[in-house]
Amino acid sequence: MSNAPVRVAVTGAAGQIGYSLLFRIASGEMLGKDQPVILQLLDLPQAQKAVKGVMMELEDCAFPLLAGMVATDDPNVAFKDADYCLLVGARPRGPGMERADLLTANGAIFTVQGKAIAENAKETVKVLVVGNPCNTNAYIAGAAAKKVGRTNPNNYHGMLRLDHNRALSQLAAKTGRPVSSLKKMVVWGNHSPSMYADYRFCTSNGDAVKALVNDHAWNNDVFLPTVGKRGAAIIDARGLSSAASAANAAIDHMRDWALGSDDWVTMGVPSDGSYGIPAGVVFGFPCECKNGEFKIIQGLEIDEYSREKINKTLAELEDERAAVADMLK
Ligand code: NAD
Ligand code: LMR
Repeated sequence: MSNAPVRVAVTGAAGQIGYSLLFRIASGEMLGKDQPVILQLLDLPQAQKAVKGVMMELEDCAFPLLAGMVATDDPNVAFKDADYCLLVGARPRGPGMERADLLTANGAIFTVQGKAIAENAKETVKVLVVGNPCNTNAYIAGAAAKKVGRTNPNNYHGMLRLDHNRALSQLAAKTGRPVSSLKKMVVWGNHSPSMYADYRFCTSNGDAVKALVNDHAWNNDVFLPTVGKRGAAIIDARGLSSAASAANAAIDHMRDWALGSDDWVTMGVPSDGSYGIPAGVVFGFPCECKNGEFKIIQGLEIDEYSREKINKTLAELEDERAAVADMLK
């Protein structure tokens, strides 16, 4: 094995997404079959025994690419020299908790973790926030990191890839075309039911998907609510939130960012002002990835219907940003 190992920090390592994610990272599905990895696993003190159990299972897989493992409840240890951080651990919504309470509870977690990443990780670190509300948690972590100043604030992402993948699957079923033929999907905005899954630019083997679907009522009344409320539908069916599909989306996001992608991918990234989204808001945009860098696709036409949807999901993100503003001072 010629490549030097890279360090991948994963928080919430004892949780259900962690259990689907870690084995795939260690087997090379995220960073390639020639890239050894060292896993640095963060979880709460009371979860350390369970993390040890997961590590025992990782050992028992005898993954050739797994070059080391660390388990800790200290963010400064978990993020030490990290090349990639997947922030999965978050406070779930409990009985009687309002959205604002969740934002505040998670605000505290992501302020600490954003600072610890900026102080300890590689300057080139790539960070993906999965824990909900993931856009605003990524915004908080990025804001905390900005104060430290070492790392690139544009490298703090929120995960919209699950929404992107859900949209592709629904479109494949509707059009009868294989998922692999569908290109140029976009999901704008927040990872919440307000997201806007937009297939106006989507093609399948060169055919316009909009023309294949040709059904505005389906788009408005079936497709958008199905994709937007898929997380809740899974919770209802499983009694637990999505885990394997969320882990799969995290792998997709990081793999494409690190290794490049030949299609547009939706990433929740800090806005640079594109499409009128205020700078800094972590927003789902269509991106292309090359040589470890991502770029927001520019110049797409936003019609009136789309602008209304984009404004709605932006308004929700602005509300979330206002709810955490005090803790970022
Ligand atoms: P889980 O409850 O099974 O596991 C969460 C783990 O995080 C637990 O082991 C817990 O001890 C740990 N944890 C809590 N606070 C922590 C902290 N401060 N530092 C480190 N670890 C901490 O939850 P899960 O099913 O794995 O989901 C994790 C998160 O991912 C949730 O917020 C969920 O809503 C979110 N999620 C996001 C998406 C997405 O598309 N963005 C999809 C599915 C789930
Ligand atoms: C999902 O989209 O599956 C997760 O974000 C879980 C949720 O609360 O919807």
